[in-house]
Amino acid sequence: MPSPSRASTTHPVDPAENGCAPPPPQHVAIIMDGNGRWARARGKDRNFGHRAGTENIRNIIRLFGECDVRYLTLYAFSTENWSRPKSEVRALTRLIGQVLKREVKKMHREGVRLHHIGRLDALDEGLRRQVQDAIELTKDNERINVVLAWNYGGRGEIVDAVRQLITEGMGAEAIDEQAIESRLYTSGLPDPDLVIRTAGEMRLSNFLVWQAAYAEFWSTPTLWPDFGAAEIDAALSAYAERTRKFGAVVE
Ligand code: IPE
Ligand code: IPE
Ligand code: MG
Repeated sequence: MPSPSRASTTHPVDPAENGCAPPPPQHVAIIMDGNGRWARARGKDRNFGHRAGTENIRNIIRLFGECDVRYLTLYAFSTENWSRPKSEVRALTRLIGQVLKREVKKMHREGVRLHHIGRLDALDEGLRRQVQDAIELTKDNERINVVLAWNYGGRGEIVDAVRQLITEGMGAEAIDEQAIESRLYTSGLPDPDLVIRTAGEMRLSNFLVWQAAYAEFWSTPTLWPDFGAAEIDAALSAYAERTRKFGAVVE
Protein backbone atom coordinates (compact mmCIF):
# COMPACT_ATOMS: atom_id res chain seq x y z
CA MET A 1 0.00 0.00 0.00
CA PRO A 2 1.46 3.40 -0.88
CA SER A 3 2.34 5.56 2.05
CA PRO A 4 -0.11 8.45 2.48
CA SER A 5 1.50 11.82 1.95
CA ARG A 6 2.18 14.00 4.94
CA ALA A 7 1.07 17.52 5.51
CA SER A 8 3.99 19.93 5.49
CA THR A 9 2.92 21.74 8.66
CA THR A 10 4.62 20.82 11.91
CA HIS A 11 1.31 21.19 13.76
CA PRO A 12 -1.22 18.98 12.02
CA VAL A 13 -4.75 18.93 13.36
CA ASP A 14 -5.23 15.20 13.00
CA PRO A 15 -2.26 12.78 13.03
CA ALA A 16 -4.34 10.13 11.24
CA GLU A 17 -4.70 12.46 8.24
CA ASN A 18 -0.97 12.75 8.19
CA GLY A 19 -0.24 9.13 7.37
CA CYS A 20 0.20 8.06 10.99
CA ALA A 21 -1.39 4.80 12.04
CA PRO A 22 -3.51 5.27 15.18
CA PRO A 23 -3.09 4.87 18.07
CA PRO A 24 0.49 6.15 18.20
CA PRO A 25 2.91 4.76 20.77
CA GLN A 26 3.52 7.30 23.49
CA HIS A 27 7.25 6.62 23.52
CA VAL A 28 9.39 5.44 20.60
CA ALA A 29 13.05 4.60 21.21
CA ILE A 30 15.41 4.24 18.26
CA ILE A 31 18.72 2.42 17.91
CA MET A 32 20.14 4.51 15.09
CA ASP A 33 22.41 1.97 13.40
CA GLY A 34 24.13 1.58 10.03
CA ASN A 35 25.97 4.87 9.53
CA GLY A 36 29.23 3.01 8.87
CA ARG A 37 27.66 0.69 6.28
CA TRP A 38 25.92 3.64 4.61
CA ALA A 39 29.28 5.40 4.20
CA ARG A 40 31.10 2.25 3.06
CA ALA A 41 28.48 1.67 0.35
CA ARG A 42 29.46 5.11 -0.99
CA GLY A 43 33.20 4.53 -0.75
CA LYS A 44 33.50 7.09 2.06
CA ASP A 45 34.90 6.90 5.58
CA ARG A 46 32.69 6.04 8.56
CA ASN A 47 32.57 9.61 9.83
CA PHE A 48 30.89 10.66 6.57
CA GLY A 49 28.09 8.27 7.56
CA HIS A 50 27.89 9.70 11.06
CA ARG A 51 27.49 13.20 9.64
CA ALA A 52 24.69 12.02 7.32
CA GLY A 53 23.03 10.16 10.20
CA THR A 54 23.16 13.24 12.38
CA GLU A 55 21.65 15.36 9.61
CA ASN A 56 18.69 12.99 9.55
CA ILE A 57 17.75 13.56 13.19
CA ARG A 58 15.97 16.91 12.79
CA ASN A 59 13.63 15.49 10.15
CA ILE A 60 12.88 12.40 12.21
CA ILE A 61 11.97 14.44 15.28
CA ARG A 62 9.57 16.48 13.15
CA LEU A 63 7.96 13.41 11.58
CA PHE A 64 7.40 11.64 14.90
CA GLY A 65 6.06 14.88 16.36
CA GLU A 66 3.53 15.06 13.53
CA CYS A 67 2.38 11.57 14.49
CA ASP A 68 1.78 12.71 18.08
CA VAL A 69 4.53 10.58 19.54
CA ARG A 70 5.26 12.35 22.83
CA TYR A 71 8.65 10.84 23.69
CA LEU A 72 11.42 9.98 21.27
CA THR A 73 14.61 8.45 22.64
CA LEU A 74 17.60 8.38 20.32
CA TYR A 75 20.55 6.07 21.00
CA ALA A 76 23.47 8.11 19.76
CA PHE A 77 26.50 6.71 21.63
CA SER A 78 26.75 3.64 23.83
CA THR A 79 29.20 3.05 26.66
CA GLU A 80 30.64 0.31 24.46
CA ASN A 81 31.22 2.72 21.56
CA TRP A 82 34.34 4.03 23.38
CA SER A 83 36.06 0.90 22.05
CA ARG A 84 35.93 2.30 18.49
CA PRO A 85 39.01 3.92 16.92
CA LYS A 86 39.97 7.16 18.66
CA SER A 87 39.41 9.21 15.51
CA GLU A 88 35.83 7.94 15.23
CA VAL A 89 35.07 8.61 18.90
CA ARG A 90 36.49 12.10 18.50
CA ALA A 91 34.34 12.73 15.42
CA LEU A 92 31.20 11.49 17.17
CA THR A 93 31.92 13.67 20.20
CA ARG A 94 32.51 16.69 18.01
CA LEU A 95 29.27 16.03 16.15
CA ILE A 96 27.13 16.19 19.26
CA GLY A 97 28.65 19.58 20.13
CA GLN A 98 28.03 20.88 16.60
CA VAL A 99 24.44 19.64 16.56
CA LEU A 100 23.64 21.21 19.91
CA LYS A 101 25.15 24.50 18.81
CA ARG A 102 23.25 24.51 15.52
CA GLU A 103 19.93 22.94 16.46
CA VAL A 104 19.00 23.77 20.05
CA LYS A 105 17.44 27.17 19.35
CA LYS A 106 15.41 25.73 16.46
CA MET A 107 14.31 22.78 18.58
CA HIS A 108 13.31 25.18 21.34
CA ARG A 109 11.19 27.22 18.90
CA GLU A 110 9.50 24.03 17.74
CA GLY A 111 8.51 23.03 21.27
CA VAL A 112 11.05 20.24 21.77
CA ARG A 113 12.01 19.43 25.33
CA LEU A 114 15.45 17.85 25.51
CA HIS A 115 16.51 15.23 28.05
CA HIS A 116 19.73 13.26 28.39
CA ILE A 117 20.30 9.74 29.66
CA GLY A 118 23.75 8.31 30.28
CA ARG A 119 26.87 9.39 32.10
CA LEU A 120 27.63 13.01 31.33
CA ASP A 121 30.77 13.00 33.46
CA ALA A 122 32.73 11.38 30.60
CA LEU A 123 32.26 14.50 28.49
CA ASP A 124 34.57 17.47 28.70
CA GLU A 125 33.24 20.39 30.67
CA GLY A 126 32.27 22.56 27.70
CA LEU A 127 30.21 19.84 26.11
CA ARG A 128 28.65 18.87 29.41
CA ARG A 129 27.56 22.45 29.95
CA GLN A 130 26.15 22.61 26.41
CA VAL A 131 23.97 19.58 27.14
CA GLN A 132 22.88 20.94 30.53
CA ASP A 133 22.10 24.38 29.08
CA ALA A 134 19.97 22.83 26.32
CA ILE A 135 18.04 20.81 28.90
CA GLU A 136 17.49 23.90 31.03
CA LEU A 137 16.47 26.08 28.06
CA THR A 138 13.84 23.63 26.82
CA LYS A 139 12.49 22.39 30.15
CA ASP A 140 9.04 23.98 29.79
CA ASN A 141 8.41 22.77 26.23
CA GLU A 142 5.65 20.25 25.75
CA ARG A 143 5.28 19.41 22.07
CA ILE A 144 7.68 16.44 22.04
CA ASN A 145 10.27 15.11 24.48
CA VAL A 146 13.54 14.12 22.83
CA VAL A 147 15.73 11.94 25.02
CA LEU A 148 19.34 11.85 23.90
CA ALA A 149 21.07 8.64 24.96
CA TRP A 150 24.72 9.64 24.83
CA ASN A 151 27.36 7.63 26.66
CA TYR A 152 24.43 5.47 27.69
CA GLY A 153 24.55 1.82 28.78
CA GLY A 154 21.61 -0.04 30.26
CA ARG A 155 23.69 -2.18 32.58
CA GLY A 156 25.70 0.80 33.83
CA GLU A 157 22.42 2.59 34.47
CA ILE A 158 21.24 -0.20 36.76
CA VAL A 159 24.62 -0.25 38.51
CA ASP A 160 24.32 3.52 39.11
CA ALA A 161 20.80 3.05 40.52
CA VAL A 162 21.96 0.32 42.91
CA ARG A 163 24.88 2.46 44.04
CA GLN A 164 22.46 5.28 44.79
CA LEU A 165 20.19 3.00 46.81
CA ILE A 166 23.15 1.87 48.88
CA THR A 167 24.39 5.44 49.33
CA GLU A 168 20.94 6.38 50.60
CA GLY A 169 21.14 3.49 53.07
CA MET A 170 18.02 1.78 51.81
CA GLY A 171 17.39 -1.59 53.45
CA ALA A 172 17.01 -4.75 51.36
CA GLU A 173 13.36 -5.18 52.32
CA ALA A 174 12.49 -1.67 51.08
CA ILE A 175 13.89 -2.29 47.60
CA ASP A 176 11.24 -2.95 44.99
CA GLU A 177 10.88 -2.21 41.27
CA GLN A 178 9.64 1.29 41.97
CA ALA A 179 12.70 2.01 44.12
CA ILE A 180 15.03 1.01 41.30
CA GLU A 181 12.99 2.64 38.54
CA SER A 182 12.94 6.01 40.27
CA ARG A 183 16.76 5.95 40.42
CA LEU A 184 17.34 5.16 36.76
CA TYR A 185 18.43 7.95 34.37
CA THR A 186 14.93 7.69 32.89
CA SER A 187 13.15 8.50 36.15
CA GLY A 188 10.01 10.48 35.30
CA LEU A 189 9.92 9.27 31.69
CA PRO A 190 7.49 6.57 30.53
CA ASP A 191 8.84 3.21 29.39
CA PRO A 192 9.26 2.89 25.62
CA ASP A 193 6.28 1.32 23.84
CA LEU A 194 8.17 0.69 20.62
CA VAL A 195 11.88 0.10 20.06
CA ILE A 196 13.02 0.57 16.47
CA ARG A 197 16.39 -0.60 15.17
CA THR A 198 17.74 0.28 11.76
CA ALA A 199 20.33 -1.56 9.63
CA GLY A 200 18.67 -4.94 10.05
CA GLU A 201 20.11 -5.88 13.43
CA MET A 202 17.90 -7.65 15.96
CA ARG A 203 19.52 -6.84 19.27
CA LEU A 204 19.27 -4.25 22.01
CA SER A 205 23.03 -3.57 22.36
CA ASN A 206 22.65 -2.52 26.00
CA PHE A 207 19.82 -0.07 25.23
CA LEU A 208 17.10 0.48 27.86
CA VAL A 209 17.46 -3.07 29.14
CA TRP A 210 15.23 -2.39 32.14
CA GLN A 211 12.72 -0.04 30.50
CA ALA A 212 12.17 -2.08 27.31
CA ALA A 213 10.99 -5.15 29.24
CA TYR A 214 7.57 -4.97 27.54
CA ALA A 215 8.36 -2.79 24.54
CA GLU A 216 7.39 -3.93 21.06
CA PHE A 217 10.41 -4.38 18.79
CA TRP A 218 10.56 -3.43 15.11
CA SER A 219 13.60 -3.66 12.87
CA THR A 220 14.19 -2.42 9.33
CA PRO A 221 17.06 -3.18 6.94
CA THR A 222 17.15 0.55 6.06
CA LEU A 223 20.37 2.19 7.23
CA TRP A 224 19.94 5.13 9.62
CA PRO A 225 20.81 7.98 7.21
CA ASP A 226 18.06 6.69 4.86
CA PHE A 227 15.43 6.18 7.58
CA GLY A 228 12.44 8.43 6.86
CA ALA A 229 8.68 8.83 6.47
CA ALA A 230 8.11 5.45 4.76
CA GLU A 231 9.84 3.55 7.58
CA ILE A 232 8.00 5.55 10.24
CA ASP A 233 4.67 4.73 8.60
CA ALA A 234 5.63 1.03 8.44
CA ALA A 235 6.80 0.96 12.06
CA LEU A 236 3.71 2.73 13.41
CA SER A 237 1.40 0.54 11.31
CA ALA A 238 3.13 -2.60 12.61
CA TYR A 239 2.82 -1.27 16.16
CA ALA A 240 -0.90 -0.59 15.71
CA GLU A 241 -1.38 -4.26 14.76
CA ARG A 242 0.36 -5.64 17.84
CA THR A 243 -1.50 -6.97 20.86
CA ARG A 244 0.28 -6.02 24.03
CA LYS A 245 -0.49 -8.54 26.71
CA PHE A 246 1.93 -7.76 29.56
CA GLY A 247 1.75 -11.39 30.63
CA ALA A 248 -2.02 -11.55 30.85
CA VAL A 249 -4.47 -13.56 28.74
CA VAL A 250 -5.91 -11.31 26.04
CA GLU A 251 -8.55 -12.93 23.82
C1 IPE B 1 25.44 3.82 14.36
O1 IPE B 1 26.08 3.47 13.20
C2 IPE B 1 26.09 4.98 15.06
C3 IPE B 1 26.75 4.65 16.32
C4 IPE B 1 26.76 3.48 16.89
C5 IPE B 1 27.45 5.71 17.00
P1 IPE B 1 27.34 2.49 13.20
O2 IPE B 1 28.58 3.31 13.25
O3 IPE B 1 27.23 1.45 14.25
O4 IPE B 1 27.19 1.83 11.75
P2 IPE B 1 27.57 0.34 11.33
O5 IPE B 1 26.83 -0.58 12.24
O6 IPE B 1 29.05 0.22 11.48
O7 IPE B 1 27.11 0.26 9.90
C1 IPE C 1 24.28 0.48 19.06
O1 IPE C 1 24.89 0.31 17.84
C2 IPE C 1 24.65 1.78 19.66
C3 IPE C 1 24.11 2.97 19.00
C4 IPE C 1 23.30 2.98 17.96
C5 IPE C 1 24.51 4.22 19.57
P1 IPE C 1 26.26 -0.50 17.68
O2 IPE C 1 26.57 -0.51 16.23
O3 IPE C 1 27.28 0.08 18.59
O4 IPE C 1 25.85 -1.94 18.21
P2 IPE C 1 26.51 -3.37 17.95
O5 IPE C 1 27.97 -3.24 18.25
O6 IPE C 1 26.29 -3.69 16.50
O7 IPE C 1 25.77 -4.30 18.83
MG1 MG D 1 26.47 -0.44 14.25
